[in-house]
Formats: sequence, structure tokens, C-alpha cells
Amino acid sequence: MILRCDDISVRYRIDDGSGIEALSHVSLAISQGDRVSIVGPNGSGKSTLALCLAGLIRPTSGSLRIGDDPDREPPFGAIVFQAPDDDLIGETVREEILLTLEHVLDVTDIQEAAMLSLGRFGLEGLADRPVNTLSGGEKQKVALACALLSRRPLIVLDEPTSHLDPPGKRDLRSCLETLSDSVEAGVQPALVLVTQYEEEARVFPRVIELSAGRIVYDGPSTSWIPSHEQRSEARAILSRFAADAPVILSCRDLGQIDAPGWRHPSHPLAGINLEVCAGEAIGLCGPIGAGKTTLGYHLAGLMERWGGELEWPAHPGNRSRPVVVIQFPERQLFCQTVMEEVALGPKMLGLDFGEATARSHDALDRVGLPYEQFGQRWPFSLSGGQQRRAALAIAAALRAPLYILDEPQAALDAEGFSRLRSLCQEWLDSGSSYIMISHDLDLLRRMTGRVWVMNEGRIEFDGSWDGLDRNGAVLSRIGFDEPKPGVTA
Ligand SMILES: Nc1ncnc2c1ncn2[C@@H]1O[C@H](COP(=O)(O)OP(=O)(O)OP(=O)(O)O)[C@@H](O)[C@H]1O
Ligand SMILES: [Mg+2]
Repeated sequence: MILRCDDISVRYRIDDGSGIEALSHVSLAISQGDRVSIVGPNGSGKSTLALCLAGLIRPTSGSLRIGDDPDREPPFGAIVFQAPDDDLIGETVREEILLTLEHVLDVTDIQEAAMLSLGRFGLEGLADRPVNTLSGGEKQKVALACALLSRRPLIVLDEPTSHLDPPGKRDLRSCLETLSDSVEAGVQPALVLVTQYEEEARVFPRVIELSAGRIVYDGPSTSWIPSHEQRSEARAILSRFAADAPVILSCRDLGQIDAPGWRHPSHPLAGINLEVCAGEAIGLCGPIGAGKTTLGYHLAGLMERWGGELEWPAHPGNRSRPVVVIQFPERQLFCQTVMEEVALGPKMLGLDFGEATARSHDALDRVGLPYEQFGQRWPFSLSGGQQRRAALAIAAALRAPLYILDEPQAALDAEGFSRLRSLCQEWLDSGSSYIMISHDLDLLRRMTGRVWVMNEGRIEFDGSWDGLDRNGAVLSRIGFDEPKPGVTA
């Protein structure tokens, strides 16, 4: 036995003096080499349990015993946090790996070991990159490498694949499978995986399901029948896009600098040409680091342009511009309360107080964060999935002509996902458009009618999903799974 929780509860205090019981009388034991998945809806206490198991927070009541030594102190486990920004503390990727290895190896070995480790996790190309310039998926890969190298007896992974592309997901799976054979592992660690996906949960032999802070199932994954709806494939969305719909956004040579022969060395866009029409749903996919998020920021006018033209012909000069739901919702939140956060956009659009308030309440209801329960909460006290919902509410309250949704499904449970789907359908029905950025091709196939495949700063394919299926080479070139003909929306 390496860890035992007896009747632990965790209560968070919130500003108005009340509290939230995030975990309630949880008891469980984890032994060496155990592989356990933790599942449950948004806000059910998964991340809180993960933090307890890794020894990063102490339960408010109950006891958490590590090994057979009652005096052994946390931190005990390594953790990959739900928000990849929380994981990294080094300046560069190499330094991040060195910081991890420092704790587990002799100093004489360390530079060479770092190079080997970078190679083993496919990170050589990123070794000298400052961590704050990494894409979301790259950050997740580095954080995973550090956790797996840490030689801790327990490794906790909180939704570690939410920003990985298909090759990244495959690599993680094989890393987890081969961990027991690896030299670094020494003693085989126990692995705890928090996930929103049923298939992913069933990779491990044991599943713990949480609901409202309590364990509702702890047993073999083979006999687990989910008591909450799990995330599954999206039903196809109906696009009302008409062939003669007006162009609402167009760009030419975006990221291309006019001066002959000159390219900004660190600019990841290499001359993008595209148009978006009213009522269109477009999927944007491509490998980790392809430039998808950067393109999204440019289209929304959130980044200084390095060259090229960008126009919103249908909305010249007015403030009704594209709206981005950022890949990491916590970066989008900065007000004191959830309500202020959502009402800020409508106020900036010049709406009067009554209208701004009504829109904000409506948006909060649509994402399942009703004002009465969540309106006065501090945004950073929300769980990962609740923060994602808040970010969607901010967008919904703006009623924009174009929404740019960067991995909008990440961290959402089944209920949250069906709300996202309804929002998307409403936007299309009202003539708005959206660009959905995701590594999840099945999701994009069902939620969009047109696809852009991006690689190394370029759009390598722009067309229908059927067209992409006829061009199988496009996806195999970037290491994505082969397309599945016949499942187009
Ligand atoms: N720092 C905090 N202060 C106050 N309340 C918090 C804090 N962190 C989490 N909570 C609340 O505790 C409950 C459990 O949160 P937790 O993050 O553990 O959920 P989760 O199951 O990981 O959810 P998700 O699927 O959204 O990631 C939620 O109601 C959340 O709003
Ligand atoms: Mg969580």
C-alpha cells in the first residue's frame, strides 16, 4: 500500500464566508503499480482529489496516510495539472527537464540524461525554446515528460491529453504502457488518470467515479457502468450555410512580411489566404505547434500583424468583430466575479445596464452556470470545466458575427459539451459563423462543414470533409489518423 485516504473531505472557503464541499467523506487506497482512472462531471471534485493524492492540498478532515510511515510528509506524487500553464517553472524546455532530473539523478549524469530524456519524449527540437512560447499541446508534452521522469511512486495526470494531437495521444498511451519497463521508473509507480472520456478511462483496470464530491463507483473498469453520461461523439450539426452567403472575413498573405526576403524569425504564420462567409462552420486542425492558435488570434485582431491584409467586409469599422474563446480559459478571466466577467463585453459594446445584465444572465444560463449559484463567484475558484463554461458565456453574451473557438470542448463533461453544441447550432441559425480549432477530427467532422488543415504556419488544405477524405495524404503527412470515410456530417 502506498497511499490510503480515510474519510477525507475538502472544503473550500469562498469570499462571502460560505464554503464549498468539493470532496465529501472519500476513502480509497492506492498500491504500488496501480492504474486508476478518475471520472465524473464538471465540479465533482476530480481535480481536488488529484491535488490531495499528489500531496499538494491537505484535506479539511479525515486522514491521508502515505506508505507505512505515519509521519511521512507530502509532496509525495508528481502531478500534471489540468491547466498546462500551472506545470512549467523553468525558462526553457531543457531547464524544465533538468529541474526534474536534479531530484532523481547524480549531478554528473544530468546534462547527458537530459538530452536522452528530451529524445525519448520527442522534445529535442524544443530543447532551447522558452516555455512561455510553447503551444498548449507542447506544454502538455513537456509536463508529461517531467512527471514520467520524476521517479515518484505516484503520478497523477489531470486531463493530460486535452490539448494533444492524435500522435501526441498515441505517444502518451505508449509511454504509459512502457513505463514499467523503463530504466527511469525504478520502482513501478502508481498512475492516476483524470479524464472526461470513457474510452480513455477504460484503458486502466480500475475506475473511480465521483459525483458531487463523493465516490459513486470504485472497482474494475470492466464492470463499470457510468452513472453519469460520459462524453461521446457529437451528433452532426446542421449548417444553414448558403453558397451565396456574404464574406465576413478575408485575409491575404497574413504573416508574410512585404520586405523582400525577410521573414520574422519567430513568427509561425507563413502567408495565410482565406475567406469566411456568414453562417459557415469551419474546422481548423493540424499538429501541435502548427500555428492554429496564432492564426485564431490574428483573425480576431488580438495580435500585432506582421504583414498581409485582414478585412471584415460586412462590418467595416464597427466594433462587432470576431470573438475568441481562448484555448486556456483561465487566461481570459480577470474580473472579481463571474458576472462582471460576462457583463464586461456587452458593456464595452455600449449596451445599457439593463440589456447588458439580461444578456449576461441569459449567457450564464445557457452554459449551465446560473447567476444565483455562480454569478458572484471569483472566476479562479471555478473548476476547470466551469472556467471553460464561463469563457463560452463571455463569448455568447457578445452575439458576434464570428466565433473562434480554440479547443472549446477541452475540460467539458457530457452535459457541458451538449450545451456547447446547442450554442454552436444557435449561432449558425442566427447567421453567425464559427471556426473551431481542435485536434479531435471526429468532433470537427460533426461540428463543421469545411476544414482547414494547417501545418508549419500554412494552410495545406481548405475544402470539404469529403474533399479531405479524397486527399488522404494530407492527414497522413502530418501524422494524424487516417480519415474515416462515411462519417461526414
Ligand atoms: N480554489 C477554490 N475555491 C473555491 N471553490 C473551489 C476551488 N477549487 C474548486 N472549487 C470548487 O470545488 C468543486 C470541485 O472542484 P474540482 O476542481 O475538484 O472539480 P473537477 O471535478 O475537477 O471539475 P472539472 O471537470 O470541471 O475539472 C467545484 O464546485 C469548484 O467550483
Ligand atoms: Mg478538474
